[in-house]
Amino acid sequence: MSLKNFDPDIYEAIRLETERQEYKLELIASENLVSEEVIEATGSVLTNKYAEGYPGKRYYGGCEHVDTVERLAIERARKLFGCAHVNVQPHSGSQANMAVYMAALKPGETVLGMNLSHGGHLTHGSPVNFSGQLYNVVFYGVRKDDHRIDMDQVRGLARRLRPKMIVVGASAYPRIIDFKAFREAADEVGAVVMVDIAHIAGLVVAGLHPSPVNEAEFVTTTTHKTLRGPRSGMIMCREEFAKAVDKMIFPGIQGGPLMHVIAAKAVAFKEAMQPAFVEYQKQVVSNAKVLSIELMNRGYDLVSGGTDNHLMLVDLTKREITGKEAEEALVKAGITVNKNTIPFETRSPFVTSGVRIGVPAATTKGMKEAEMKQIAALIDRALKDSASEESLASIKNDVRELCARFPFYRERMTV
Ligand SMILES: Cc1ncc(COP(=O)(O)O)c(C=O)c1O
Repeated sequence: MSLKNFDPDIYEAIRLETERQEYKLELIASENLVSEEVIEATGSVLTNKYAEGYPGKRYYGGCEHVDTVERLAIERARKLFGCAHVNVQPHSGSQANMAVYMAALKPGETVLGMNLSHGGHLTHGSPVNFSGQLYNVVFYGVRKDDHRIDMDQVRGLARRLRPKMIVVGASAYPRIIDFKAFREAADEVGAVVMVDIAHIAGLVVAGLHPSPVNEAEFVTTTTHKTLRGPRSGMIMCREEFAKAVDKMIFPGIQGGPLMHVIAAKAVAFKEAMQPAFVEYQKQVVSNAKVLSIELMNRGYDLVSGGTDNHLMLVDLTKREITGKEAEEALVKAGITVNKNTIPFETRSPFVTSGVRIGVPAATTKGMKEAEMKQIAALIDRALKDSASEESLASIKNDVRELCARFPFYRERMTV
């Protein structure tokens, strides 16, 4: 029996979500659209298999084929990133980070992490997250004048507090990160470095952002953002930490790996090895640049005055609209973004003074510089006319027309 017949409610929700992804403008910086091949692997019978352990050393029989899958995923990841050891089993970016913390630190030890409201991630020490609850996390941030990471502050905090680990990486930082400078700061005080490249992994693979692999003991990533794989995580580390990391993922914090997702990661890694992937990432960077310039030309302030990567943060402080209101207006206009705190934020995280905009998903659909100009105009109209339901509905029509020119999951919609 088909899903449509057996469970029409879930079927319909999936159909509507497919339609949303097809006809709305997806500008959430942490999202992307995976290929049919990645979906096929994710939806495969590998979901049935228990495979606790690692290839060749499992706690269950019948693992010969999933061993092939995991070995291929590991081999491809090592080639892509040029790293010594890889663990492809983390279910998510948060679990990858948790495993590194627990492999490298004892509870209560001191960690430097990037302030959430300056672009860091929850797992980099937020008090509502395990990282902030189990470890003594002290935050560094960006400078007030140019919104670039304040390396003087990092060095100062490191010298004073002598942390065991420095966590580097961000969810909302639009500039290149100087991993070498963090390595030097850590070396001065004998700290290890964990770099979380969740957002920029695709750019790193394509050589459009420096790689942290030679600068850090641990590199973690999600696989579903610019890397354009299934929703999941991964840890890379130096050989000396391989055993500790593997033991912390399993049996430390996870049980059986999601073999269907590991297969999909392997497929995504193969895609990332193709020359077309580098072209895609170049287009991402170019699209982000054009969109940022177009928005600034329309009078919008951007945190740090622009972008070097796939995302930008619009600072709405001087406008009569909060991040929450902007997100709501844009969603009504068919444009999906998220409200986001900005450095030195004065509003609550539920309101915020900014929106984060990213172009990976729109670029995957084939949109280029000309469409970015159109998108800037659509965003501007929606923010200026945020009080008019009629205007927002009319923009939504224009968004639908734009998206209709870039079919992506069209065939799925007739299934
Ligand atoms: C920098 C960074 N690290 C980790 C994560 C966590 O990933 P996940 O949502 O897969 O747990 C995110 C997700 O947004 C992120 O931006």
